[in-house]
Amino acid sequence: MSDTVLSLVTLAARKHGGPKLATLTAYDATSARLADAAGVDLVLVGDSLGMVIQGAANTLGVSVDDVAYHTAAVARGLSRAVLMADLPFASYPDAASAFSSAARLIRAGAALVKLEGAGHVIGIVEHLVAREIPVCAHLGLTPQAVHRFGGFKVQARDAAAAARLKADALALQAAGACLLVLECVPAALAAEVTRSLEIPVIGIGAGADCDGQILVWHDLLGMSAPPRPRFVRDFLKGHDSIEAALGGYVAAVRDGGFPGAKEGYR
Ligand code: KIV
Repeated sequence: MSDTVLSLVTLAARKHGGPKLATLTAYDATSARLADAAGVDLVLVGDSLGMVIQGAANTLGVSVDDVAYHTAAVARGLSRAVLMADLPFASYPDAASAFSSAARLIRAGAALVKLEGAGHVIGIVEHLVAREIPVCAHLGLTPQAVHRFGGFKVQARDAAAAARLKADALALQAAGACLLVLECVPAALAAEVTRSLEIPVIGIGAGADCDGQILVWHDLLGMSAPPRPRFVRDFLKGHDSIEAALGGYVAAVRDGGFPGAKEGYR
């Protein structure tokens, strides 16, 4: 594992060569240090913290204060991986609030922010990027839309929804997004979007053909409450320490061993 300090520029270059991006959530300095040492390329302070740290049923109660607090902690644990922080629910209803929410997370130590969806979000991405706030987009199962979706369900399974997702991905890239997370979509669609975009696509429940993968820390270590979605693999099984499990995850993403065919959707 190289100890070269990574940046958005080096991550972007991995689209065109080099190992796939192994990315992971973390919420505290110790987990961040372990992820960093294991070779994780990008660490996300996800609003999943609402579920795995705060114990809520969804991510909607998470505030910018919460994400900023965990971002500052995670930043202290990283020495080489890139740090990304989630803009939580209702923190980017318009361009001005998006900018002030995002600026807080950048000041807390994030190199970029992630936001969910398309529609009016496309203009917000453009606004942030023009003001030196790098942005990762997030499409598919966007948990902040859980009520509209009627639960945490696989998205874009029919042709019309798939076409919409592809168009949204291209529009977000054109607006300046430098990464895209695709969550819980059919593997074939994720592969097609990954081929069509010039920016790296990070999958979760989106098959093996994305440019990288992301997992939630608690899922990777088998700590989350069952039932677990099929894209979750417990990397502690077969490894005798957290460090070895993290190393196993990074290696499996890089060599294409994770996710397997049964760990995705059709
Ligand atoms: O909040 C989060 O952890 C996320 C990942 C699941 C991509 O958005």
